[in-house]
Amino acid sequence: MSSTIRPDSSGSVIEPETRLQQQWTAVDEFVERLVVKPDGALEAALQAAEAAGLPAISVSPSQGKLLHLLARVQGARAILEIGTLAAYSTIWLARALPAGGYLVTLEADAKHAKVARSNILRAGLDHIIELQVGRALETLPRLESEGRGPFDLIFIDADKPNTTEYFRWARRLSQRGSLIIVDNVVRNGAILDTASADPNVQGMRRFHELVAADPGVTATVIQTVGGKGYDGFTIARVTVDEGRTG
Ligand code: SAH
Ligand code: DHB
Ligand code: MG
Repeated sequence: MSSTIRPDSSGSVIEPETRLQQQWTAVDEFVERLVVKPDGALEAALQAAEAAGLPAISVSPSQGKLLHLLARVQGARAILEIGTLAAYSTIWLARALPAGGYLVTLEADAKHAKVARSNILRAGLDHIIELQVGRALETLPRLESEGRGPFDLIFIDADKPNTTEYFRWARRLSQRGSLIIVDNVVRNGAILDTASADPNVQGMRRFHELVAADPGVTATVIQTVGGKGYDGFTIARVTVDEGRTG
């Protein structure tokens, strides 16, 4: 692709970054239609989120399918999600569970939880998914004291400044072989900015350092582009069980 800034058919100038974003979006739409094929319940979940005025920050369809595939490869029977929003990622993940499997998802915002509940019901997953409303730093210790878990897959996707805390909880609530997946770890590349004033970016910088210093996980970071821009996932497999001793 040429890096020259050229006017489009309407005569206005399109920056190279905009062209790139348009291409990522177009390819995402192509892949979604041809390969990912989200069904009516998933599409209705996004429509309900939009109609209720929720932020359009669910994982993309192709990312949702990636979560689904990872849960299946993992053979996950128990899944924990931190940050539900409208339950779009939740539905992708819950559909990967075998009979008898279950998913616990944590959401702080009562309005988001209401939309999520209705989306979960529409998807026919209310018997598999347990939605807990409250700030995750309050619901996580409760889960532990109730003896819930260990979880085979944990998806962290809530308020970014607390990601390190959520990862520490994920370690406690997982076991050797569990998968911990964290969303939004690249932030358009901003994580390289040591001086960033954005608490989300600083939260993710601390998170990368925490993973790097944890001898009990083996991890990678996958950068992603698509309809939602440029971001990424951390995927970490627990190799040393921190369990309930830590
Ligand atoms: N996983 C969802 C998107 C989650 S967006 C998907 O991909 O479909 C992040 C969500 O985390 C928002 O709904 C927000 O309300 C919630 N959240 C923010 N702070 C939180 C907290 N302290 N505890 C639990 N959830 C929180
Ligand atoms: C935001 C949060 C997300 O979980 C995401 O995937 C994208 C954006 C946000 O808070 O801006
Ligand atoms: Mg996210």
